[in-house]
Amino acid sequence: MRKVSIVGVGKYLPKKILTNCDLEKMVDTSDEWITTRTGIKQRRMAAKNEATSDLAIKAAKEALEDAHLKAQDIELILVATITPDMAFPSVACLLQNALLAKNAVCLDISAACAGFVYALTIAQQFLASGTYKNALVVGAEILSSITDWKDRNTCVLFGDGAGAVVMSEVKSGGILSTYLGSDGSKADLLMIPGGGSRHPCSRETIDKRLNYIKMQGNELFKLAVTTMAHAAQVVLKKAGLECKDVDLVIPHQANIRIIMAMSKKLGLPAEKIYLNIEKYGNMSSASTATALCEAVKEGRIRKGDIVLLDAFGAGLVWGACVIKW
Ligand code: UT7
Repeated sequence: MRKVSIVGVGKYLPKKILTNCDLEKMVDTSDEWITTRTGIKQRRMAAKNEATSDLAIKAAKEALEDAHLKAQDIELILVATITPDMAFPSVACLLQNALLAKNAVCLDISAACAGFVYALTIAQQFLASGTYKNALVVGAEILSSITDWKDRNTCVLFGDGAGAVVMSEVKSGGILSTYLGSDGSKADLLMIPGGGSRHPCSRETIDKRLNYIKMQGNELFKLAVTTMAHAAQVVLKKAGLECKDVDLVIPHQANIRIIMAMSKKLGLPAEKIYLNIEKYGNMSSASTATALCEAVKEGRIRKGDIVLLDAFGAGLVWGACVIKW
């Protein structure tokens, strides 16, 4: 099997900022509650004329430039998203067209907040086997389009954004191990009940607000902590490493208390954890993607570093990945 790594990173965050103070005017909440319970201070909101593919295109262009590759060099495009422009065609196909990446095979991955780690793992398989040479992997979401702006339990949590990476064969290092898991028995903890084939969009689904995110936050919180800690242990063991060997953890950014509880379980010091939740909230698949990009651009990840990606979300699904940079 060939060695595979990330050779370019990019991101795009919509310009509009929605602060906790803005939310205080919309629902019965407070900056104090949101900050202490979640760690979020603000989030980005896509403009009315922006769709998920628009965010993905900007992040992807930056990643291609960073990798010094042309769109025509890409043979596989995977977009992790739960907020595609439309049910079909895929965001990946729309992205291919915008980039003129005519040599790419394109598909979307639906694995919610673990989507980027799932997509990364799938791309790695295609590259390691030699099927394709270069892949573009994007996590892009407009969660504001599926958020119930009247529900204080959920509307304070989510934001919009996109992160992208280019993956290629490398001579040394790269992805050392990956681990994915799923548990469909807990699907009801986080879902959008309406708008699919079970309850197609109708006046009734709209009136009952079924086309928006429904979440049992409390249950998910506990599962997120234990599952992400477990995933980290499994993937590090597969790489022949221990927690102390990790230079930087890029966790999914759902709640700062989840991240800190998980780090404590693993005995990881706070300075080894990368956070961008304060600025962006939970952007599902785009959270780990943008965090990875920012960590690289800010010099928090240097050549030779051991980086751990760790994510958990609706499905339930979870995934982790160890990369030697
Ligand atoms: O993305 C991957 C999957 N998602 C997650 O992993 C999310 C996991 N869950 C969480 O992050 C947390 O459970 C939340 C942030 C969603 C909620 O925090 P919590 O500490 O679990 O609060 P809670 O749901 O137990 O609610 C505590 C209180 C309730 O009031 P009562 O019943 O105690 O009077 C809520 O009604 O806080 C109230 N509350 C709020 N108060 C002010 C809930 N949302 C708000 C709000 N502002 N926005």
